[in-house]
Amino acid sequence: MSNILDRFRVEGQVAIVTGSGRGIGAATAIALADAGADVVVTARTVEQLEDTAEQIRKRGRRALVVACDVLDKQQRQALVDQTIEHFGRLDILVNNVGGSGAIKPTLMTTEEELEACFKLNTTTAFAMSRLCAPLMVKTAEKGAIINISSVAGHLAQSGFISYGIGKAAMNFMTLNLAQDFAPKVRVNAISVGSTLTSALEGVINDEVERAIVERTPMNRLGQPEDVAACVLFLASPAASYITGEIYGVNGGLTGPPMAMPRSSF
Ligand SMILES: NC(=O)c1ccc[n+]([C@@H]2O[C@H](COP(=O)([O-])OP(=O)(O)OC[C@H]3O[C@@H](n4cnc5c(N)ncnc54)[C@H](OP(=O)(O)O)[C@@H]3O)[C@@H](O)[C@H]2O)c1
Repeated sequence: MSNILDRFRVEGQVAIVTGSGRGIGAATAIALADAGADVVVTARTVEQLEDTAEQIRKRGRRALVVACDVLDKQQRQALVDQTIEHFGRLDILVNNVGGSGAIKPTLMTTEEELEACFKLNTTTAFAMSRLCAPLMVKTAEKGAIINISSVAGHLAQSGFISYGIGKAAMNFMTLNLAQDFAPKVRVNAISVGSTLTSALEGVINDEVERAIVERTPMNRLGQPEDVAACVLFLASPAASYITGEIYGVNGGLTGPPMAMPRSSF
């Protein structure tokens, strides 16, 4: 038997990581490069993408920077077209773009906000998966899709109605796609807990951070690399018998990480 660690490498593979200018997406793109992949780094802010690309090139891997708003159909198509033109193959898709929008009680949340959150978290990942899966099979004969979800998708709490629905839908989409795309393309998700990125910094202060840490059995916030390591595992041949799973990378949370105000009547 060969060394088991070889199965954790993605040598010669090509990955698209959406939202890889900063945070979890940037850490994931760099982790995949560490393990041997060439990476398409994509988001809306080119300057940040160039920083991630530089880290990838320092590791001796190729990086392609593509500015793309995943909410835009033409830009999604151009992203995938440029990937195939440049690298000639696609093996891994990480649907990382997502977000909570404003965190507020149901009675203050509009239908438009709910739909916008669903679109950002679930519809874009659905559209990217539909575009990429056939190309993975055509150019690499197999593929792996990893969806970046959240504990908000299965731990109900006030304030998270839009985000919770968006990520819960992403989780169930993951299960459906895994059934639909097997055996050629594996589809898994990661249920992320509170992780130190610019997105989290936008919604917490020192007091909230202390409260989250107290509720988290592992007694700390997550780091982007905690999630990136799990993405690498799920993308790699080490996980070749794993599909349709939602892995928790959340420090052992079994309840909501923060208390938000309820709707007032
Ligand atoms: N951090 C947490 O505590 C946490 C917890 C649970 C789940 N998550 C999930 O983890 C994922 C990444 O979050 P993060 O905390 O790493 O966020 P982040 O630090 O804000 O990074 C988000 C990345 O996505 C890009 N992006 C945002 N909107 C985009 C769009 N419409 N089109 C293309 N790119 C876009 C951003 O770049 P531009 O703005 O330049 O486009 C940036 O590169 C999200 O799905 C989030 O829901 C995070």
